[in-house]
Amino acid sequence: MRLRNVPGSREALAESPYIVRDLLTRRGRWSETVFGNSRPIHLELGTGKGKFLYALAQQHPEINYLGAELYSSVLIRAVDRLTEEPLPNLRFLCLDAFDLPAYMGPGEVQKIYLNFSDPWPKERHAKRRLTSERFLHSYEKYLAPDGLLEFKTDNTDLFDFSLESVPAAGWELVAFTRDLHADPVLSAGNVMTEYEEKFSSRGVKICKLIARQGQKKGASMANIITTETFEALALKAEKPVLVDFYADWCGPCKMVAPVVEELAGKYAGQIEVYKLNVDDSPEIAQRYGIMSIPSLLFFKGGEVVKKQVGFVPGPVLEGILKEVL
Ligand SMILES: C[S@@+](CC[C@H](N)C(=O)[O-])C[C@H]1O[C@@H](n2cnc3c(N)ncnc32)[C@H](O)[C@@H]1O
Repeated sequence: MRLRNVPGSREALAESPYIVRDLLTRRGRWSETVFGNSRPIHLELGTGKGKFLYALAQQHPEINYLGAELYSSVLIRAVDRLTEEPLPNLRFLCLDAFDLPAYMGPGEVQKIYLNFSDPWPKERHAKRRLTSERFLHSYEKYLAPDGLLEFKTDNTDLFDFSLESVPAAGWELVAFTRDLHADPVLSAGNVMTEYEEKFSSRGVKICKLIARQGQKKGASMANIITTETFEALALKAEKPVLVDFYADWCGPCKMVAPVVEELAGKYAGQIEVYKLNVDDSPEIAQRYGIMSIPSLLFFKGGEVVKKQVGFVPGPVLEGILKEVL
């Protein structure tokens, strides 16, 4: 999407009471600390100018709505509207949706909306699509086990991709249509987004799918960490931290992942365990001189106290972990 820079938008958002800040302190307590209640949270990722959520928030005062948007130049429009006509159950976040697992507690969100997400048509950008397996796995960290994901788009290529990535990620396809406005069941109560109005007024059909995450044997215990969240989560943590530096294309990384997962579960409460994708966060990998992956770094008080490079059997890694604790 082409963006027009709005001068001063970043500063205006920094001052706005309708933007949620201090995100790390909210983990597991979003409803209480942001809305002062215990109502369910529904979240839109890539909220744009916020029209869709504003309408929903008016219709459903019993739900707390959060809209996440990457760009301040877009989000400022949503915040302007809320400033003019405030609603108690709608707030916004200016961030990359991929960073949300660091800030949200397990099961904290009841519903996720993705509306007219950027299609990222080039294959090499596929993992940036909000319906990619990578993103679906990130939603598992905070979407309630019975929570739903609702996705609308005009883009048939992105829709076809999503119909494949949902089952590939182990998620269940609950329902879908390639012509939402002609579907009496799925269009019931439909609230149009800005892009939906634009495209449907030109006669473009709107696709929609609803998905639910699969029932897992055990939810992943290792959270994702990125350049954006590294300082706060790894370096300022009170407990020792293990960071697994990996990449999606790395075979040995896939072998070490279950070993790390098992220890994360066994030592939950004693050590924080994170996974850092070196392709997504090359700055951090460079800072710690990661030349080979997987690399497992243990941090204490912001310093690296142990480093293990390459595959390591569970008992050996557990031995290192015990030395660190
Ligand atoms: C095409 S617009 C759709 C806006 C709105 N949802 C609608 O339907 O009218 C997609 C929006 O998603 C935002 N976006 C894309 N990737 C994002 C990400 N990783 N995290 C947060 N927002 C993102 C873009 O900045 C853009 O504002």
